[in-house]
Amino acid sequence: MSELSVNHLLGIKYITKEDIELIFETADQFKEVINRPIKKVPSLRDITIANLFFENSTRTRLSFELAEKRLSADVINFSASSSSVKKGETLVDTVNNILSMKVDIVVMRHPNPGAGIFLSKHVDASIVNAGDGAHEHPTQALLDCYSIRERLGSVAGKNVIIVGDILHSRVALSNIYALQTLGANVKVCGPKSLIPKYIHKLGVGVETNLRAALQWCDVANMLRVQNERMDISYFPSTREYTQQYGVTKSLLDSLDKEVIIMHPGPINRGVEITSDVADSKQAIILNQVENGVAIRMAVIYLLASKIKRDDSN
Ligand code: CP
Repeated sequence: MSELSVNHLLGIKYITKEDIELIFETADQFKEVINRPIKKVPSLRDITIANLFFENSTRTRLSFELAEKRLSADVINFSASSSSVKKGETLVDTVNNILSMKVDIVVMRHPNPGAGIFLSKHVDASIVNAGDGAHEHPTQALLDCYSIRERLGSVAGKNVIIVGDILHSRVALSNIYALQTLGANVKVCGPKSLIPKYIHKLGVGVETNLRAALQWCDVANMLRVQNERMDISYFPSTREYTQQYGVTKSLLDSLDKEVIIMHPGPINRGVEITSDVADSKQAIILNQVENGVAIRMAVIYLLASKIKRDDSN
């Protein structure tokens, strides 16, 4: 297969295993490019991309911008906090104004689940979801699975545990879809109050004991407690959460296997993982960030190829 089955990347739920494999094969080539002395290719000199961030971001925003610049696209950046959204402009009006400047691709992070899906039905551009509320974060799941493939050779057949605040996590949902599509076995681990009641319908096992979870898995993806999405208290205190669900080096060293530790960031050191775990050889957290650029180059390149093909017809 040489092209994606979709014109937008709205979520992992809407793409196929073949799409993911194509993205990975394309990312392999771009990973080689970004490790060259000249880290740039001229592929998208005729493409303009708008990065619209209605929510805070460090990794995703910088990674998309770098990926687009490495492909030689023209890039404009928009942050809601310094825009006319503050004056009451709607999302569709905001984006249509930006598109009238001849933008081809919109990368958007938004606090509302489904914001990208909504936008894709109302504007004439390819939409990439860079995280929509507690719904999906597709490029994060792609880079996570790509990092597992890089470290362990493949994703198929691997046991992956996702630990922490599953309820409020777009990373968890996108990872569950991507990991299962690629043939991994997936379980979640955390306090019952932070595990959605529908989780069994996704074919995901639940483990409330962290040691048992770590003993089962090949990879542990540690999630942050998303206090900004909580309006009530989901556990008695941060100290108790850390005692039950925080990964320490001594806990890892007491297992009879080596577990790979992942984290999408930002890390709360000393809460979900200790500093010695975050900085250990078992952790591939910075490899995930590096791979994020190659994965986002692949996603943007493949979506732009579809735009160019449509234009030439
Ligand atoms: N992993 C992730 O989405 O991080 P940012 O919120 O910093 O983009």
